Amino acid sequence: MKIAVVGLGYVGMPLAVALAKYGSVVGYDVNQIRVQGLKDGWDSNRELRQDILCTTSCEFTCDIADIKNADIYIVTVPTPIDENNEPDLRIIKSATKALGTLIETGNIVIYESTVYPGVTEDICGKILVQESGLKSGVDFVLGYSPERINPGDEVHTVENITKVVAAQTDEAADLLVELYGQMNGGNIFKAKNIKTAEASKAIENAQRDINIAFINEVTMLLNKMGLSAHDVIDAARTKWNFLPFTPGLVGGHCIGVDPYYLAKSAIDVGHQPDVILAGRKINDGMGAYVAQRIDYFLGSDRQNKDILILGFTFKENINDIRNTKVIDIINELTSYGYNVDVHDPQAVPEDVQSEYGIDILSALSKGKTYDCVTLVVNHVSYTEMSVSNISALLKAKSGSKAVIYDIKGIWKDLDFPEIISYETM
Ligand SMILES: NC(=O)c1ccc[n+]([C@@H]2O[C@H](COP(=O)([O-])OP(=O)(O)OC[C@H]3O[C@@H](n4cnc5c(N)ncnc54)[C@H](O)[C@@H]3O)[C@@H](O)[C@H]2O)c1
Repeated sequence: MKIAVVGLGYVGMPLAVALAKYGSVVGYDVNQIRVQGLKDGWDSNRELRQDILCTTSCEFTCDIADIKNADIYIVTVPTPIDENNEPDLRIIKSATKALGTLIETGNIVIYESTVYPGVTEDICGKILVQESGLKSGVDFVLGYSPERINPGDEVHTVENITKVVAAQTDEAADLLVELYGQMNGGNIFKAKNIKTAEASKAIENAQRDINIAFINEVTMLLNKMGLSAHDVIDAARTKWNFLPFTPGLVGGHCIGVDPYYLAKSAIDVGHQPDVILAGRKINDGMGAYVAQRIDYFLGSDRQNKDILILGFTFKENINDIRNTKVIDIINELTSYGYNVDVHDPQAVPEDVQSEYGIDILSALSKGKTYDCVTLVVNHVSYTEMSVSNISALLKAKSGSKAVIYDIKGIWKDLDFPEIISYETM
């Protein structure tokens, strides 16, 4: 069977390349630069190595005509939220509309984009029917298989994680089991129906968001008591059933977004999603909280204080800057009047400039020192820094101490000199 993957981002591209080991796959994306990069063996997301891209049998195209004769379409386009935190389905709808003009009797259309229950059948299915004139569940069949991969995670990949699948017919569901099972050794869970599979993905990410929000709230109250959340968690995690989440920012394309999809579907059925939205509120406020703590540590004379933020990406060891909450810290500190420099060894400075309008440093300027160094993202290069490397970034002051604010707690066991005040969450 010929497979077409629609959307070649973090989800679609590794999937297309993995499936191409077993059959004919064409990957289609509207972004010409992305497609040209992949053809040249360059993955701007740094998920796949050049040698893998150069040897894959997967074809990459930005011409939709090239996917016309596929038997199976797999849709992996973005599903973001808008400025009101409402699901923004414009991209998935427009990709679906384009597919509606291509599909033929016998085709299967599988969605992998994260959505709320009902989007695949009640929204996308209807668009496909309108555009194709075919009958859903009869002439063509819908399927849904949520994606669980995690950017930068080399352990949990499309080829080894359990895949949930569902389809409108038993026959199609069995075909999905076979299709995805060949990639991951048959590690497939067949969900009862499409809405169940859609809901399973939404609750997985909402649960993670709420767990982090709980720890973030606990952090705020512990900090007020003069206790470190990292120290308290180290003690608590020795209990067998304690969930060892750690405090921090929640950004990116999934955890900070998907709970709003679940909340929207809750409201649609007349249920007020109090816990889900409370988690979102706490996590969305963490950038401001971090800035307020820095302000508290530094005290007065904001205009003459220099702060270095270490890390800009939404999580460690990747270059993904989508929906990073580090920008909230920077905006808040700048509004207080502080001078803020930002360093990230992974983020692409041009991308940060075009998306957020700020310049970041890829290398630390030699000799420049700061009143406060704030570690926000635990990139491996930061975890490897020595006491002398870190101390060299701080101003040697008489009177008040320079501050290290290590929100990830990665340097908490280092011995800093007396003239430095080490703070963590
Ligand atoms: N990134 C992750 O780790 C992850 C994990 C699980 C689920 N998801 C979900 O998977 C979906 C895709 O996420 P992603 O991170 O791969 O997004 P992404 O932004 O990395 O990639 C999406 C790609 O789709 C392309 N695209 C946009 N409109 C298109 C169209 N009409 N036709 C063809 N291509 C089009 C974009 O150019 C882009 O290259 C989202 O719903 C997301 O929530 C993502």
